[in-house]
Amino acid sequence: AAKADVLYLRSLLGEHADFPKPGIVFLDIFPIFRSPFALETLFTHLMHHITTVTLPANKINKIDVVVGLDARGFLLGPPLALRLHAAFVPVRKQGKLPGEVVKASYEKEYGTDIFEMQSHSIAPGQSVIVIDDLIATGGSAKAAGELVALQGSSVLEYLFIVGLPFLKGADKLDAPAYWMVEGD
Ligand code: ADE
Repeated sequence: AAKADVLYLRSLLGEHADFPKPGIVFLDIFPIFRSPFALETLFTHLMHHITTVTLPANKINKIDVVVGLDARGFLLGPPLALRLHAAFVPVRKQGKLPGEVVKASYEKEYGTDIFEMQSHSIAPGQSVIVIDDLIATGGSAKAAGELVALQGSSVLEYLFIVGLPFLKGADKLDAPAYWMVEGD
C-alpha cells in the first residue's frame, strides 16, 4: 500500500519546465492539495513514516514540535502537527516575525537570505521534526536546523514530499532526511 501511495502521489506532481527560470523543472505539489483523496493519502503516509520509522529510531513515543518552512512548509506543518498532537513553529523569511527572534543565513541561487524563528518557541530537549515541500540543495533546511539548535534543541528528522537526490541536499543536514517521491 505504501508503494502504491507513493506512485499515486508522484503521478499527481505537476512538472513545469523553465519555471521560475530557464533550465529549472519546477515540481508543483498543489495538484495533490486539489485532490481530497490525495491530500488524505499524503498525510496518512507521513504519519505512517513517523510512527514506524522516526519514533522507533529515536526511541521516543511522541513528536513535540513540527517546524515548517516558509512558505509551503506552512501548508504541511499545521495539519501534520494536529495529527501528531504536536506544536507547530514557523520559520519565516527575515522581518516577518514580531518579538525577539533567532536568525540563520542560507545560500540561495543568487546571494544569501535570512531565516528567523521566534525565540523561546522550542524548549530544550523537545523532540523536533522539520517539514517542507521539497529538498533541493538543502540550504534552507540546514538553516532551519541551525535555528532549532539556537533554541537548545536538535532536529530528529527532516521530512519532504519531494527529494532531488542529484543535488545532494541531505548531505548538508545534521539528521536523516526523508522524502516520499523523487524528482530528476
Ligand atoms: N525549489 C527548488 N527547486 C525546486 C524545483 N525544482 N521545484 C519546486 N521547488 C523547488
